[in-house]
This record gives sequence, C-alpha cells and structure tokens, in this order.
Amino acid sequence: MKFSQDAHAAAILVAAGSGERLGADKPKALVPVGGVPLVVWAAQALVDATVLSSIVITAPPDRVDEFTTLVVDHFGPHTGVDFIVVPGGTTRQQSVESGLATLPERIQTVLVHDAARAFVPVDQVQRVYEALRDGDVAVIPALPVVDTIKEVTDSGAGEHVAGTPDRSILRAVQTPQGFKRDVLNRAHAEGHALPGGATDDAALAESIGVPVRVVPGDERALKITTPGDLARMEDAVRQTENAGDEAERSASFMVPRTGIGTDVHPISADTGKELAVAGLTWPNYPALEGHSDGDVVAHAMCDALLSAAGMGDMGTNFGTSSPQWAGSSGVEFLKETVRRIQAASFVVGNVAVQLIGPFPRLGERREEAQQVLQDAVDAPVSLSATTTDSLGFVGRREGLAAIATALILPV
Ligand code: CTP
Ligand code: MG
Repeated sequence: MKFSQDAHAAAILVAAGSGERLGADKPKALVPVGGVPLVVWAAQALVDATVLSSIVITAPPDRVDEFTTLVVDHFGPHTGVDFIVVPGGTTRQQSVESGLATLPERIQTVLVHDAARAFVPVDQVQRVYEALRDGDVAVIPALPVVDTIKEVTDSGAGEHVAGTPDRSILRAVQTPQGFKRDVLNRAHAEGHALPGGATDDAALAESIGVPVRVVPGDERALKITTPGDLARMEDAVRQTENAGDEAERSASFMVPRTGIGTDVHPISADTGKELAVAGLTWPNYPALEGHSDGDVVAHAMCDALLSAAGMGDMGTNFGTSSPQWAGSSGVEFLKETVRRIQAASFVVGNVAVQLIGPFPRLGERREEAQQVLQDAVDAPVSLSATTTDSLGFVGRREGLAAIATALILPV
C-alpha cells in the first residue's frame, strides 16, 4: 500500500525519560545502538512511514539543545518533515502533554510514540495511521500475550496469586498509539489514570469512554528498558548489517565477467615442426610460426580469460620480454593463465573458442581436443571450427586464426 504525506498528521516522540532501569550514563534516548542514538532510530522510522508532516520530540529539559543539534545533523533540512524539540515533563504523561501543546494548529491526527521503541517497523506506524484515516478515533498496536499472566497481591507475607486472567483476551500494548487530536486533548484533560499513572495514552482515552481500536503490533517494536534489551537490539542491528554485507558480497559473486580474445599465427616455413592447435599436435599439416608453439586456439582462450579478468593479454603477461615462456605449449600458457586469474580471485565459468581455417580437420579429434583444453582451464570448453570459404589470408593458407570468449566469476 502506498502512503503519502499528510499535512494534518504529526507524531509526538516522547524521549524525555532518564532511563533509570537501563542505567546508562546518559538519558535513554541518547544511548546508541549500532552507533546511532535511540531517538534517531525512532524518528527515522516515523519519517520513513512517509505519512507525517511534523514530529515533536520531547527531550529531557536540560538536553533540548543537544537533541536539536542531533536532529539537525542527522536529518538535515530535506526530510520534508518539520522537527520541533521541546522540554518534556517529569512523567511520560506530562511529556505527552508538552508535545500536544506544541503541535501546529493544522494537526488533526496525532501518533504518540516512545523513543524507547526505537526499532518499530515502518508498517506498524502506517497501520496505526491508516486506521485513523479510515475513521477510528483512537488506535493502539498490540501483540497477543505468550506467557500466562497472574494477578498477585502482597499482604506482607510475600506475593500470592490473586487470580489468573484469561490469556486469550490479553494483549501487550505498544506504540505508536494514534488519536484524533481532540480525542487526545480530551483524554489528557479529562481522563484519569490507574493509581500508578498512565503508562499509555489509550488508558486515558478509555477512561472517558473513547472506543480504542486494536491493530497488530510487532515484536521488533519492543520497548528497550533493560541492559539486556539493549544488548539484544545491538546484536540484531549487527546481524542486519552483516546480512547486508553478505548480500552485497553474493551480489558481486553473481555478476559474471566476459572477455574476448583472438589470435593469428602465420604458417611456418619450417617443415620439421609439427602443427600444434587446440592442445594437440597434428601430423601431416604445416606448423605455425611463433614465439611459442603457435597454438592459436589456446592463445585466443588465454586472451579471452585475461580480458575477462581485466588483466591485459598474452603480450603483457608472457611477452617476448619474458624469455622463460619461449617455446612453451598452448596448454602450459592456459594453465598459467588460469593460475593467475584464480590468484586474482576469479573462477572460470566457461570458455568458447572457434578455430578459423581450412585445417586441421577437427572432425573426430574435436572431443579429444576439447577434453585437453578443459583439463587445462578446469572448466567447460566448447571448441568449434569454421573455414572462410577460401577467402582472405586463412583461405590462402597463409596462417590460422582463432577467436574465443570466456566467462569468469569473482569470488
Ligand atoms: N518519557 C518521557 N518523559 C518522561 C518519562 C518517560 O518522555 N518523564 C518517555 C521515555 O523517554 C520513553 C517513553 O516515555 O521513550 C517510555 O518510557 P520508559 O521506557 O519508561 O523510559 P524511561 O522512563 O526513560 O525509563 P525508566 O522508566 O527505566 O527510567
Ligand atoms: Mg519510565
């Protein structure tokens, strides 16, 4: 479902708590996970929901400037969302009220969100917004309760069970909780909380008879309360980052590289030499001339492999300035080429090579030659041949040529 920004919708992000149970050396909203403060994670989720036009953040009163700088540094001027940082109160309820008092006039829909639920999924924010847009006046996200819940009393002799509520009708409630603005105003002005205070805004709304709609919550919207919660979130963020790196690595593995190579050698006048082509020697044919055995097929394959790896060509790898390669066979060049491209972290996918010339007739030795070439490159090789219908230098039997393509994969 596509959402677009609503000029009449805002969030109050309550972040003024001290985080006593977390016990950090700074207010909870400033504690980093993966190097980013919780309040920034939470604000990012609200921004990413793409429905809100304003976000009011309630900060600890002595931290308003710090929060403002943080928000400006992180979000810059181009999010399309107005940020307002105001001092919060001594209770969560008071912090919500100071946010409410700051909301721009035009705002009619308000989402109240705990900065401590820093990893709320974007679609949870959208679900709450959507229910309000579709007519509900108060909406909370909630999860079924997995543990059996007991009511307890303590009359001085330790806690005793006073009852077991039916678990199937219990829900664990999260934020953001969404309200029509006037409903939230009334809830805070006229509502009354349980003796322990209102830990959520819906309780105040319920107390004045407002129907509260329940939509699905999400485990990821867990409220970070204890050091254990923080450690689990730190692990989850690290795992997500690692998964991202892994995806990047496997994406680069999946991008194959192709190369092209050609080679030409003239027919040798040396009648005592045997023709070497495609890794085999071919009696009764004129030999090819060259710095090496002149195997055009093997050489075109080497060039294609080096080209795929972006490692130059046979000239730059085994040129006449490297005399140790003089007289080497095509198969030796292939093996060394593959060794070098493997050292550069590639594997050979396959090589296709075509001999261009009226001889040798590959015919019944094609399979044999192909096998020798495959063994040399340790990958599938397709060997084919064509004549040029007597045209050109090949047709005039002045030389032989070969053309090859190679596919390699980075590892
Ligand atoms: N909150 C607030 N103003 C307060 C108290 C709480 O804005 N006076 C906010 C917190 O910053 C938090 C949310 O309300 O984002 C939920 O509160 P809680 O998780 O209890 O956070 P703290 O009150 O900071 O933690 P603790 O209770 O452990 O001190
Ligand atoms: Mg608290």
